[in-house]
Order: sequence, then structure tokens, then C-alpha cells
Amino acid sequence: MNNQSIFNEIREKIDIVDLIGEYVPLVQKGRNFFGVCPFHNDTNPSMSVSRDKQIYKCFSCGASGNIFTFIRDYEHMDMKDVLELLAPRAGVTLNTTNIQRKTTKYDKFYEIYNLTNKFYQNNINTKDGMAAKEYLKNRQISEEVIKEFEIGLSLDSMDSLTKVLTKKGYDILTLDKIGLSSNNHDLFINRIMVPIHDISGRVVAFSGRIYNKKSDHKYVNTKETEIFRKGTILYNYHRCKETARRSKYVIVMEGYMDVFRAASVDIKNVVAIMGTALTIEQANLIKKLSNNVYLCLDGDAPGQKAMLSIGEELEKNGLNVKIITLTNNEDPDTYILKYGKEGFEDQVEKAISFSDFKLQSLKKGVNFASDLELSNYVNSVIREASSIEDEIRREIILKKLALETNLSYNTLEKRLNEYLEKRQTKNVVIKELKPNNKLSKYEKAVYGMIYAILTDYKYFKKFQDESLYFVDQKTRYLLMEIEYYYKKFGNIEIPDFYTYLLEKGELLELYNNIINYVDINNISEEAVNDFMSVIRSYNLRLEINRLTEMMKKQTNDLEKAKIAERIKALRIGE
Ligand code: CTP
Ligand code: MN
Repeated sequence: MNNQSIFNEIREKIDIVDLIGEYVPLVQKGRNFFGVCPFHNDTNPSMSVSRDKQIYKCFSCGASGNIFTFIRDYEHMDMKDVLELLAPRAGVTLNTTNIQRKTTKYDKFYEIYNLTNKFYQNNINTKDGMAAKEYLKNRQISEEVIKEFEIGLSLDSMDSLTKVLTKKGYDILTLDKIGLSSNNHDLFINRIMVPIHDISGRVVAFSGRIYNKKSDHKYVNTKETEIFRKGTILYNYHRCKETARRSKYVIVMEGYMDVFRAASVDIKNVVAIMGTALTIEQANLIKKLSNNVYLCLDGDAPGQKAMLSIGEELEKNGLNVKIITLTNNEDPDTYILKYGKEGFEDQVEKAISFSDFKLQSLKKGVNFASDLELSNYVNSVIREASSIEDEIRREIILKKLALETNLSYNTLEKRLNEYLEKRQTKNVVIKELKPNNKLSKYEKAVYGMIYAILTDYKYFKKFQDESLYFVDQKTRYLLMEIEYYYKKFGNIEIPDFYTYLLEKGELLELYNNIINYVDINNISEEAVNDFMSVIRSYNLRLEINRLTEMMKKQTNDLEKAKIAERIKALRIGE
């Protein structure tokens, strides 16, 4: 984070209790303030906000951080926007160097795409564009939508774009490289052009649709280039940020036409996956918009299948997924045309949870007369049920299953309990944030030591003077970052170090755990000595183990004796 000082300055001027208090009602209890955590489903006040430390933390879901991470996660903003939102409140003026992005070698590519986009948009408004306009009109795409989505036209000529661009001085190799021409010819010929923007709103690709001639390819798309990686982009992402944030959910659809249609009835919190599978990057993008996502792909079989895999991916990312199933092979485009805005909003209202959707689809095509198919079906339903938290819902599912399959409820329940047990053991391993009482004595000492070092540099010296070290690599990396920060800024404020670690994924997680665990307001000299003695004997123990292993392997008696001596010496120190 190169703007660390700006972040620190703003952080110092905004009180975290005041700020969070505007989003979540807080009640004071002792030194801290408590409220309902907005980052997981809860009704208990499990989030505490500390005025002394200027941080918040949730004892239930483990979310913690400073003012910036709170606004980022609450408003689903990126850090640049958070900075711009909070700077005026802190009375800090951002000069352009604070927020300006670096110029890059790609700037020329963006420039060319921008010009091309203007060229296509202009074409559609000339007499060459009359047929295209007619086509769009027949599909009830209005002039406003054409403007809003910058829909254009590539001309019915082999090289009109290439000529325009080379005349402006761009060389043909560049145009080839960025997917606009090939061998002095245009790549898009006589198609309705839809520009595709990256997440910052720059045009980086096009999709061209046929409109007045037959072709094997309904759409021709820009190939992947240095500025266009399909898996990192969602169609309409940059336009829908604000509305998705405000409406608190986002709808995922399949294609451009769906997005155009939704927009024409003023439904704008929509992105499209452009007919492909969903990458992890795209799942993360959706998460930045909102935690609530409605999947509404085409009603046909492939669309339904895609919703299963995409829904799975999104749930893995911690999103609440709901499914809108459209009847009779409709897609959002045709559905809205038929039933209007209200009709579609009804469907949003009636959307089912992802787990219900999975249960429904498990049943499709199962031959109940086949023992094998039936038992596979039963098992998969029970497995699915075991992932549902709500006990009552699990019972309902089993009761229905018992009726449906003529199996006894007890048999099904026994199987469910087996799955539940398996799941529990699995969860323990996965969960990152260990509850305090699950930390070993050594881990507690490590967390305490790091915390002490964060509050005062002298403890870092003390730790080093004794040649102590942390066994775990992640912890060692964290210590290196702490040292670096001290060298650069002189001292560390707990909330500012959050900002510093923002882009260092795993280290931020560890830091979070430490801050969540340690709750000592004043680290005492005595406590530090205790931490150090635990770490010292842990290190000794490891060294003794290492030497013992070495001794076992040693065949030379003299060498063996030497090692034994060293072990003995270490044991005295233990
Ligand atoms: N798509 C594509 N190439 C194709 C077909 C589809 O790139 N040959 C992508 C496009 O991004 C398209 C999406 O998949 O928007 C969904 O496909 P489809 O529903 O067939 O297209 P629509 O955009 O709905 O267009 P239309 O209704 O005009 O057929
Ligand atoms: Mn379609």
C-alpha cells in the first residue's frame, strides 16, 4: 500500500465508534461498544468496537479491521472509493498523486478501443446503420438503451476500421495484437457491436452480433489480449456497482440481451456472465457488489445445469445464493418482454434458496424403479440435507424423502447423522479462526508476543537479543513485515497495520486472529517474559527432538556421544 501515510492520517481523524455507530446501533459496555455484526447473519450483539484501539471485531464470525475495512465490506466498495468517501470527513484533501493510477504501456490500447467504440457508435447513427436500427427496434431495444450501452455498428466493408485507425497513426501490428484487425482487414464486419468494459469502465473488447444476414456465428468476440481476460470481467459490472450496493443484491444473467431488457424496465443491478462458466475471479467480483446474489440464467437445460455449478462456486465464496427459474425455456429477455417488470419482480420475490434448488434438481430424471438410482438419489438428498444448518428444515426434508421413497424415517435419519458427524470433523479443520480455548499454550504465547511487539519496538529487540524465533513460517513473515513497518514509520498503531496488510492475504488473516485473541490492554513486562519463556522451551524442545533424530541415525559411536552431550546441555536449559 503506497498511500499508507494518507490512510493513517485519515484514520487518526475519524473515530471508529462514531463511524460504525452510523451504520449499526452500538451500546457501551465497559470500555467497549457492542452491536449486531453486519457481516454475518445474526441478531446478537457479537461485534465489539474499541475506541482505544480504533478497531472492531466480531466474536462470532471473526470479522475485524479498521474504519477502511468496515466501509469497504459494508458498502462493498473498493479501497479507492473508500478513501474518497472518508477523506472529506477527515478534512483531508487527496491530491491526484494519492489516487491517480499509474500510466502503463496499455494506455495506447485503451485509447484505440475508445476511438473504435466511438467509430462504431457513430456508424449506427448514419444511413449505413438504418437496418441495424430497424433490427433493434423490432426487438424493442430503445434509443436510450442503445445510448446507455453504447451499442454500435461495424460497417459492411473489409477494412473501414483498420483504415481509420492506421490513418490516425496506429500501426497495424498493434491493431492485430489487440484483436481489432488481421492482415489489414477488420475482424468485425457488418455486425451490431456491443462494447465490453473492464471493471474500471474502460472498453477492452467487443462482441458483434449478426442482424441482417445468416452466419454460423451469432456472436463474434474479441480474442483474449493483454487487456482482455474474459474470466476477469463480468458484463455490465462497472455500470451496476452503485445500484447493486443500494438494492443490496445483484442478479446474474446470461447475455447482453438480458441486461438490455432488464435495463429497459429499470432493473439495473444486473451483470451477465456472457454465456460461460464462472471463474473464481468473477465470483470475487460479485462478492464485491453484494453478498446476496440471484442467479437467473436461461430456463433451458444447459442454463439450469450452469446454475448448479455457478451457485456452488458462489456459495463456496460465502455468498447467499438464490435461484430464479423461468418457465418454458424463457430467458430474462423474453420473460420481461412477455410479463413486464412486475412479472419479473414476482420471480425475484419467489426465488428459492440454492439448497432447495439443488434438492429439486437431484430428483430430475431419477428412475425410482431402479434400486441403484433410487439409493443414489436418497444418499445425495441426505448429503445435501446434512449441509443445512436448520434442524427443522432437515427433518422436513427427511420426512418428505421417507414418504416419497417408502423408506423408514429411522433408516434415513441414521444416515443423516453419519453425514453430520463427518461434516463436523471436517469443519474443525477448515475453520481458520480458532476459538481462544483451542489455542495451544505455545500459540497463545506466540500471539501474545507478536501483540507485544506491535505495541512496543523494545519487545522486538528483546525477542531478537535472546535469539528466539517463531517456528511457523507465516508468523515469521508477519514479523518481517512488522520490522519493515517500524523502520519506515517509527511506530505502529494497531488499526493502521490492518491497512498495511490489506494486500497480503494470509498475513492479514493471521493478524486478524492475533488481534481477535489478545485482549490485554497494557502488555506488561512480566507477561512478555512469560511468553518468551514458553517460546524458548518450545524452541528448545524442537532442537532436542531434532538432535535425538540425528543421534538415532548416527552410526559412529564417538559422534553419537557428542550429540548426546549437546542434548544433555540443552536439557539443563529447558
Ligand atoms: N455468446 C457468445 N457467442 C455465441 C453465443 C452466445 O459469446 N455464439 C454469449 C454472449 O455473451 C451472449 C450470451 O452468451 O450474450 C448468451 O447467449 P444467448 O442467450 O444465446 O444470447 P443473447 O445475448 O441473449 O442474444 P439473443 O437474445 O440476441 O440471441
Ligand atoms: Mn438470449
